[in-house]
This record gives sequence, C-alpha cells and structure tokens, in this order.
Amino acid sequence: MADVHIRDAQVVFKEEKDPAAVIFGQTGGVPEDEQSDLVGQANYRDGAVWAIDGVSLDIHDGESIAILGPSGCGKSTMLRVIAGLIMLETPNSGTIRYGEEEWTELNAKDRRVGIVFQNYALYPHMHSKKNLGFFFKMHKREEEVDERVEVVSKIMGVGFDQLLERRPKALSGGQQQRVAIARCIVRDPTVFLFDEPLSNLDAKLRTRTRVEIKRLLRRFNITTVYVTHDQTEAQAMGDRIAVMQAGRIQQLGAYREIYDNPSNMFVAGFVGMPPMNLIPGTADNGGVRVDGHFVDLRNDALGVRAGSDVHLGIRPESVEISHHPTEGSTPVEVYWVESHFSEQRKEVTFDLAGTRVIAKRPLNEEWDRNTTAYAKVPVEHAYVFDSDESRLV
Ligand SMILES: Nc1ncnc2c1ncn2[C@@H]1O[C@H](COP(=O)(O)OP(=O)(O)OP(=O)(O)O)[C@@H](O)[C@H]1O
Ligand SMILES: [Mg+2]
Repeated sequence: MADVHIRDAQVVFKEEKDPAAVIFGQTGGVPEDEQSDLVGQANYRDGAVWAIDGVSLDIHDGESIAILGPSGCGKSTMLRVIAGLIMLETPNSGTIRYGEEEWTELNAKDRRVGIVFQNYALYPHMHSKKNLGFFFKMHKREEEVDERVEVVSKIMGVGFDQLLERRPKALSGGQQQRVAIARCIVRDPTVFLFDEPLSNLDAKLRTRTRVEIKRLLRRFNITTVYVTHDQTEAQAMGDRIAVMQAGRIQQLGAYREIYDNPSNMFVAGFVGMPPMNLIPGTADNGGVRVDGHFVDLRNDALGVRAGSDVHLGIRPESVEISHHPTEGSTPVEVYWVESHFSEQRKEVTFDLAGTRVIAKRPLNEEWDRNTTAYAKVPVEHAYVFDSDESRLV
C-alpha cells in the first residue's frame, strides 16, 4: 500500500465534432432527466477537448477520495488516468506515481488497479464464482481461486456465497454490483476505483449498497477514488472531496470545509442542497449594492474598487425572511413554495435583483406564493465573489 501522486496531468481529446456535442462524458452516470442541470462546460479550446487540464492530486494510503462534478467535467477521465487506460504520453502530459513505483509508463495490467463501473460489466455467460476467478484463470493461477473466493465471500458478508452459483441475469442490480465489487477485491487491488457504481440502483438499494461499500473500505483501508455527481454520495464515500469542473480540480477538502469555505463561485453554486444563492451586485463602501438595496457587510477590506461587479452569496439556510418588514430587509414577492416532508422543511423561492433566491424554512411555517415577504441577508453569513468568481469574503 502506498500513496498515489498525480502531477500536472493533462488529457487532450482531438475532437472534430461540434463542441456542443461534446459536453457530456462518456460513461454518463447522470440520468437523462437530470442532465440539463449538470452540464459541465467541457473545456474546449484549439479544436480539442481538454478533459483534464492541469491536475495534481495526492491520494493518501488508505484514504477514500470522492471526485464530484457535473457531467463532462473529466471525472471518468481521471479514473482512466489512474487505471492506466489513458496514458500521460503525447499529446497528454504529466506524471503518476504509486509510492516509489513509477506508473507514468506502466501499463494498466501491471498497476493492478480495480475498477467498478456503473454498468457492472460482469461476464454475462459466467456465474459469479467464475466471474471472480476469471482474472486468475487468465494469469494461469487457477489454483488460487477457491481460497481467494472464500476469503472474499467472508469479506462481502451475509448471503454472498448464495450468489456464487448464479449468472448475472439471475441477480438483481444490487447483487450484480456486489459481485462486481467482489471481483475487484479478489485481486487484492493497489487502488480501488469506482465510477458512479450505484446510479443503476433504486434509492433504497443505493443507500444500502453505499453503506456496505463504505464499511468494506473502512475495514480494509483500501485506497479509493470514488466518482459521482451526487453530493450525498460524495459526502458519504469521501474522506476528502475533489470538486471538478472543466477538467480542473476547483477545490479539495472535507465536505464541511468546502461547504463553509467554497474557494470560488462554481464550488459555492454546486455544493449544498440546494446550493448557495448567488446574487449579482456592485461593491460599495464595505458592502454590496443589490438592486438599489445596500447590504452593509461592514467590511472595509473587500479588496475591490467601489462600483465593480461582484456576486453576493448566501446559503438557503441562512437567508432570513419574515412576513413583516424588519431592519435592513427588502420587500420581495414569493414566487414558489415547495415542501419537503421527509426533511421537515420548506423551500421558499423569491426574486431578488433578477435572481431566483431560495430560503430554507421550517415545515410548519406558512408561506404563500404571490405574497410579499421581507428578505434579509445576515452579514455574518454573507459571501462575496469578485468578477473572476473567486471568493473575497
Ligand atoms: N474518447 C474520447 N474522445 C473524445 N472526447 C472524449 C473522450 N472521452 C471523454 N471525452 C470528453 O472529455 C470530457 C470529459 O469526459 P468524462 O467522461 O471524463 O466526463 P465525466 O465527468 O465522467 O462525465 P459523466 O458524469 O457524464 O460521466 C467530455 O467533454 C467528453 O466528451
Ligand atoms: Mg463519467
């Protein structure tokens, strides 16, 4: 076991097609009806897609990193670079090392990396045990199969041995995914890679399988990279999360750190459920002017010229709204109200400076659309981003 070090990785795909057609990634872990929300502005320049555009990443031994980002941002490409399915050779560049082992020119087979995909990729005509043993058969090590399968069955837990004699067709999605995971573990991988492994499962099974995977990883301290576009999953699976956009890691850290201190507007507007509200305004004397209304941040060190364009950021849970005017509040019209019973909250949407702003409220509060509310951005919860979209306050 060892750390993985990726330095200045660049992956370029020459693309003849219309750039609009290359927005989405190849494995497409995103259900079609969610895709429009998640278009990831692939990094397209000089007639090519820069799927990975200067990424350095250290993955610690035994750590689990989640790569989180919209469709087409380069998540699967990152995994393929680690697996050796894409090499960092011209026109690509960069280096990859596993502890003292130089991996940059080492082929996929010799890296002994395990990958679990969304679509399981089991051999359909083989029952589970054969699927698990296939690698050993290929490498003329068939005598190891029985023992390895027994060990892995124990690891995989209750009921797994009952799956061994069945073919993929006779297994549910969740069971197939367990077999696919077992097939990786059986090879004793150096690094474990998951590419949206749960997106084919229904919500309940997804949660259950997630817990199982996480327990396995914890127990064996297997170094893991887990790709997903789902924040809940990223939070659950990643000790640290790398938020990606357009081929770059925008921020790396624990979910809490990223949530509290998003380094730029993309991260702020992506992380959180729903994510941070971002309201355009202009910097003015220690505060931000939004639509004729002044939000006094009492911060003389905003660091931008008065009059320059900024965005005021506020988390939905921090937006204050009331039915009556309060000091410093602005009248707004409630546009929509949505109740989320299982979370015991309501989302109240209103317009401010031409932007839809969401406030999270307790479920028992009464809010009606097309009525007037009074909204306020509490100074202590405000964020400010400059025109380069980096965080100022
Ligand atoms: N073989 C290829 N040829 C050309 N372009 C490619 C190829 N593979 C990936 N791309 C492009 O590179 C970018 C990154 O793709 P990638 O599959 O890594 O995205 P992703 O983040 O995994 O997306 P998704 O969430 O949809 O799976 C996309 O714009 C994609 O269209
Ligand atoms: Mg992908």
